[in-house]
Amino acid sequence: MSFPVQRPRRLRRNEGLRALVQETRLSTQGLIYPMFVCPGSSVRTEVSSMPGIFQQSVDKFVEECREVEQLGIPGIILFGLPEKKDETGSESSAVDGPVQRAIEAVRKTKLDLMVMTDICLCEYTSHGHCGVVKDGEVLNDPTLEILADEALSHARAGADIVAPSDMMDGRVGAIRRKLDENGFADIAILSYAAKYCSAFYGPFREAAQSAAQFGDRSSYQMDPANAREALREVALDLEEGADMIMVKPALPYLDVVQRVRDAFDVPVAAYNVSGEYSMVKAAARNGWIDEKRVVLEILTGIQRAGAGIILTYHAKDAARWLKAC
Ligand code: PBG
Repeated sequence: MSFPVQRPRRLRRNEGLRALVQETRLSTQGLIYPMFVCPGSSVRTEVSSMPGIFQQSVDKFVEECREVEQLGIPGIILFGLPEKKDETGSESSAVDGPVQRAIEAVRKTKLDLMVMTDICLCEYTSHGHCGVVKDGEVLNDPTLEILADEALSHARAGADIVAPSDMMDGRVGAIRRKLDENGFADIAILSYAAKYCSAFYGPFREAAQSAAQFGDRSSYQMDPANAREALREVALDLEEGADMIMVKPALPYLDVVQRVRDAFDVPVAAYNVSGEYSMVKAAARNGWIDEKRVVLEILTGIQRAGAGIILTYHAKDAARWLKAC
């Protein structure tokens, strides 16, 4: 049976019908807002390639957290800019580092926000790579302990979830062991399991001052051409103890989001990364696109592909728009 009996337009006739049959209902509850904390006080510097996103000292950061909470966004993910960098990224687990102090500040002010932290060394190493470097190579095993210490320091400061993004093999297991041995068996791990070696991280590297000083990250981050390999990465991270997994970036990898969603029964997150954000901002500023409609369409697409959790710099705007809907 086909036309004229079948008329899909019948269910598109008005707002009420369209809402009734909507398959994907975007909600603020699945959004996580990424934030950058730096040393000092009263610092609030806009990232030039990411309008609306700031590097902030803890005092200013807390002010923005209040706004995030009021908008109904359930959580944030933190990135830190340390006072000083060195070869091994030793500041990453400093008790008084910007991330550690920021977590404590959220706890002290009793804000109703889940605090997630990025676990990686690239913001803390002088060479900008995500692991320890020897003779121009990023070493896997010697990096694991440093990452585990970083995760432990975040847990001690009060983080709810740690999210390793370094792409070293075995880091989820190393972090899980370290947390468990130290009484943090309840702290969850969101693993950046399928993280691609992407040009879309460009603006983030300005925001986090984490550009690699030589080479690129292709010896540890995944090749954009590979999707089956993502399933393998996810399976390994789950075996090592990941509670949730992430695909990153989001838009050029929606097929990966969908395949991971279909193959595994764990919460799936997608990271709508800096370059994806900056492109929308740039086009919107030029009047080339309708920012609100484009952002809501992008986030709906990421959720429709299978991501129940979306990390996005658009979170505050999206929450405002969704409230008004
Ligand atoms: C740290 C890290 C990066 C991002 C999240 N964690 C950068 C990178 O791997 O180079 C990118 C986030 C974004 O672009 O918004 N390794």
